Amino acid sequence: MTTAKKLFIKTYGCQMNVYDSERMAEALGGQGYETASSAEEADMILLNTCHIREKAAEKVYSELGRLKKLKVDKPDLKIGVAGCVAQAEGAEIIRRQPAVDLVVGPQSYHRLPEMEAKVRAGEAALDTDFPAEDKFEHLKSRPKARRAPAAFLTVQEGCDKFCAFCVVPYTRGAEISRPVLRVLEEARDLVERGVREITLLGQNVNAYHGAGQKGDVGLAALIRELAKIDGLDRIRYTTSHPNDMDDELIAAHAEVPELMPYLHLPVQSGSDHILKRMNRSHTAESYLRLIERIRAARPDIVLSGDFIVGFPEESDADFEATMELVRQVKYGYAYSFKYSTRPGTPAAERQLVDPEVADERLQRLQRLITQHQQEVQQSMLGREVSVLVERQGRAPGQMLGKSEYLHAVHIDDAMAQVGDIARVRIVDSKTNSLTARHIQADKGGE
Ligand code: 5AD
Ligand code: SF4
Repeated sequence: MTTAKKLFIKTYGCQMNVYDSERMAEALGGQGYETASSAEEADMILLNTCHIREKAAEKVYSELGRLKKLKVDKPDLKIGVAGCVAQAEGAEIIRRQPAVDLVVGPQSYHRLPEMEAKVRAGEAALDTDFPAEDKFEHLKSRPKARRAPAAFLTVQEGCDKFCAFCVVPYTRGAEISRPVLRVLEEARDLVERGVREITLLGQNVNAYHGAGQKGDVGLAALIRELAKIDGLDRIRYTTSHPNDMDDELIAAHAEVPELMPYLHLPVQSGSDHILKRMNRSHTAESYLRLIERIRAARPDIVLSGDFIVGFPEESDADFEATMELVRQVKYGYAYSFKYSTRPGTPAAERQLVDPEVADERLQRLQRLITQHQQEVQQSMLGREVSVLVERQGRAPGQMLGKSEYLHAVHIDDAMAQVGDIARVRIVDSKTNSLTARHIQADKGGE
């Protein structure tokens, strides 16, 4: 009897990488690979990498240095690098770390089975093309394993915006949208496998314009189609660009009950001068007006954002404008990063802000964001919310899930199972989560 080969995938970076890792595991499942729970027991290790900031890329090389040692006891072990570092650095990875057998860019995952055969035959395999064929067509899910109740579904990839700091247009390529029918087909398949919440993914997801039966279809229309699927109770989408937030999408937030009241809408800076230098093509004012319209459509929506601090030329006044914008929006969550020079991007040539000044600004911004996050969480106290139960908690009887607003919620007296949507009341707010009790517990008084 031959034992199955084992595959270990380590995923870095964004949710699209999480989605891609699942697809890679499925593609190699066809080659007889099962999932390994650690790198040590694997016959093939894939690092699905992120190139968005320097730290993320450097982590990959230190991990490769560690993994290389496993080859001493296991000479047949194969090591591959996938994702955006693979796309950006290609053959350079094998030059820098000769223990790497395989380098595959995000558009070539459907070619993994052939590449695996090649590395098993003792050759190195490299593929960082942007091929004309549709990778998703070849990466169909295997039928019909049960899935966790919340899943990702990629509907759009790549970006044409070319923000001056960002590698995505280079690593993920030009914007492409998957056809509507393909998305619906994949969504139905997920629902049949127990999924109740789908997060639509794209680097620029609200620029989605997939081919439909009567021409191109935007994200709002796609969401309305998805909402008709029986059993699909929750829809989210990420990540969006302010300029692609059209009237139909805003209206969908008011009208489609399955569309959850949470929106990640990065602005990056609150200073018009910096926004211009970032090539963002919106202003702080236009962003704030947009937020007003979104809140008018869905008053309880929780917003999140991304910020870059210490972008070249950022003055104290520019940074204060960012702080002011944050105060005005009051995000429920926000991610803030110190600017990281990415070779090949337009901003890479520019004069850096003093790193100590940038660090100090980042800390101030993060304190403000954390304060708002806590206030938004506090505002949930006493409120009834719905929680999609995703797993058991640590304490006996405790279950864990997400509210409509994407807050992590612990239900202590859970009378619910994984996959249920429980009506609960929020009773406490911890640093990064909320605690709740079942509504049924105090039903008598209602
Ligand atoms: N430096 C710092 N942060 C960056 N981001 C993208 N590129 C860079 C960079 N060069 C941030 C942006 C983006 C998020 C995914 O990562 O805020 O929205
Ligand atoms: Fe990068 Fe987003 Fe700008 Fe596209 S819109 S270049 S993905 S930051």
